Amino acid sequence: MNFKITLLPGDGIGPEIIAEAVRVLDVIASKYKHSFDLQERLMGGCSIDKYGSSLTDETLADCVASDSVLLGAVGGPKWDDPKAKDRPERGLLALRKGLGVFANLRPIKVHPALMDRSPLKAEKLQGVDILVIRELTGGLYFGFPKGRDIKDGRERAVDTLEYYDYEIKRIMHLAFNLAKGRKKKVTSVDKANVLESSRLWRQIATQIGKENPDVELEHVLVDTASMKLITGPAWMDVVVTENMFGDILTDEASVLAGSMGMLPSASLGESTLGLFEPIHGSAPDIAGKGIANPVGTILSAALMLRHSFKLEAEAAAIEHAVETAITEGARSADIGGTLTTRQMTDEIIKRI
Ligand code: IPM
Ligand code: MG
Repeated sequence: MNFKITLLPGDGIGPEIIAEAVRVLDVIASKYKHSFDLQERLMGGCSIDKYGSSLTDETLADCVASDSVLLGAVGGPKWDDPKAKDRPERGLLALRKGLGVFANLRPIKVHPALMDRSPLKAEKLQGVDILVIRELTGGLYFGFPKGRDIKDGRERAVDTLEYYDYEIKRIMHLAFNLAKGRKKKVTSVDKANVLESSRLWRQIATQIGKENPDVELEHVLVDTASMKLITGPAWMDVVVTENMFGDILTDEASVLAGSMGMLPSASLGESTLGLFEPIHGSAPDIAGKGIANPVGTILSAALMLRHSFKLEAEAAAIEHAVETAITEGARSADIGGTLTTRQMTDEIIKRI
C-alpha cells in the first residue's frame, strides 16, 4: 500500500530522532512491500526562524492533505522570550487543533528490564500498563476569554477552562471502546469537587458508563490520581482526562517507564489522519550530540502504522523489535547505556 506521511522534525533533538524513525519506516516498507511517500516541513522554532510563524497555513494544509503526520519535538531557549509574538508551542497547539486530533493516547508500559531506571520500587512497577487518554483540543489550553489586560489599575491574566458536552462525549466513547480491548476499566480523572467543567465531565462520563455496563467506571479526583500514580500505578488501566490534567499526569507517569525517551503518543480525531509524536520535548541540552533515545519516536511511528494505516502486523513488528532490543541490553544514555541514537536504532532494525 501507498501512504503519504508529513514529517515535522521540529527543533532540538527532533531532526535526529525523526531521521531514525525514517530508517525504521524504510525497513518496514521494503519488508512488507509498502511505499511511504515522505514530505518534510518546518514547524516550531525552526519555522519561526524561516517564515516568521511557528506553523504556516501552507504547512498545515500539507499536513491535512497527507495520510498522517509524524512529529519530533518543538521548542528551545532561543524562542523562550515570554514577550514573543509567536512561540514554537503555539504551532503545535494550532496543528493539533487544525488536524482535529482531540484524543491523545499515551501508553505507559514498564519494561521489566528497565524497572531499575525508575525511582519507584520494582514491586510498585510490576504489571504497570496504563493507557492515558488526554483530551487534546479543548479545556484550559484553548478556552476563551484568554489573555492579559489591565483591570481596575491592576495587570491581569486570564485562561478559561471550557468544555462542551460533545467534546467530552466523543473522548468518553473512545475511552470506553478502547477499554473493551483491555481490562474493561475506565478511570475518569477530574476535579469535580471544585470545577464546574469537571462536574459536566463527570456527568457525561457517568452517562456513557451506563451505556457500557460491561466496562467498570471509576471517578478519581486529579490530586488523588497524581498520588495513586506513584503509590499504586498497577491499579490503573485506561485513564481519561482533561487536556491540562493529562499533560501533567503523563509527565508524572513517564517516570514509571524509567525515561521519557521511551514513550510514544498518538493523537487521533474523527478520521484516520493522526499526529504521532514522542511525549518528550526537544531536549536542547543534548541536541546535535547524537545521543538522544530514538525509541519514543520509533514507537510513535509504530502507532501511526496501527492507528492511521491499520497495519497491525507492521506496528507489532516494530514494538516487538524494541522490546527484544531492550531485553537483550540495548541502552541509550538516558536508560543507563552508551549507545548513540543511530546505534540504538540499528539494534531495533536488526530485530525487525
Ligand atoms: C506535551 C507538551 C505540550 C503540551 C507543549 C510543548 C505545548 O508538554 O505534548 O505534553 O503542553 O501539550
Ligand atoms: Mg507535556
